[in-house]
Amino acid sequence: MHRKCLIAGNWKMNNGLSESVSLVESINKRIADMRDVDVVVCPPFVSLSDVYKCIKQSLTMLGAQNMYPEAKGAFTGEISYTMLRDCGVSYVILGHSERRQLFGETNEFINRKVLAALSNNLLPILCVGETESERESGETFKVIDEEIRECLDNISAAQSEKLTIAYEPIWAIGTGKTATPEVAQEVHAHIRQVLGDLFGHKIADSIRILYGGSMKSSNAGELLKQPDIDGGLIGGASLQATEFCKIIEIANGLE
Ligand code: PGA
Repeated sequence: MHRKCLIAGNWKMNNGLSESVSLVESINKRIADMRDVDVVVCPPFVSLSDVYKCIKQSLTMLGAQNMYPEAKGAFTGEISYTMLRDCGVSYVILGHSERRQLFGETNEFINRKVLAALSNNLLPILCVGETESERESGETFKVIDEEIRECLDNISAAQSEKLTIAYEPIWAIGTGKTATPEVAQEVHAHIRQVLGDLFGHKIADSIRILYGGSMKSSNAGELLKQPDIDGGLIGGASLQATEFCKIIEIANGLE
């Protein structure tokens, strides 16, 4: 099954308004004719509208880094799915390990977000991944199975077709340590198996599974060549137009 590669830039809490606009403009100039890859940029909330104005005539899509699972109400400091839709957002990163570790998000809460996104026309990018000590103690698959099953609780097979999963080993995020292509492939194949158990293997075959964790132009080719790696969720390397566009070019050139 051919799955079109997806390259998503997670800017995290970087780039003010003018930096966001100039970054997305230089990215867009360089990738205008790359049609064999889907590209998503995920700026901070306050830059979403301005970035959307720069990309709305292009193929580049807009993503948010988080979302609250209610339409509106007394949730000080939070942003709803309706607000994201208003800003032109198509994708939303949910359950990033920084949200889990620094802000205490649980699988149960992330499940509410995934359900709310899917019912409100947003495409979730659900992040899962193990810590270094979980890997060392042989618990990688156990942790990932639990994250996937709990975060995707009550999701119908029809809804599951709209999912993207990102495998992000926590020990590889922002550390410069990347999972080897073989290690990443092993986990991606396992994730696809779990998705198959949940939603059937035909659907699991169509769901994109991204790798995240120190992906850059020097290792993207090897990772993206793996049969179950369908793209990248890129943090640090998405903050420089040249580097990010090199990864997009690599993904665009894959068979
Ligand atoms: P990194 O971040 O590419 O800087 O490791 C990836 C992520 O956290 O999504």
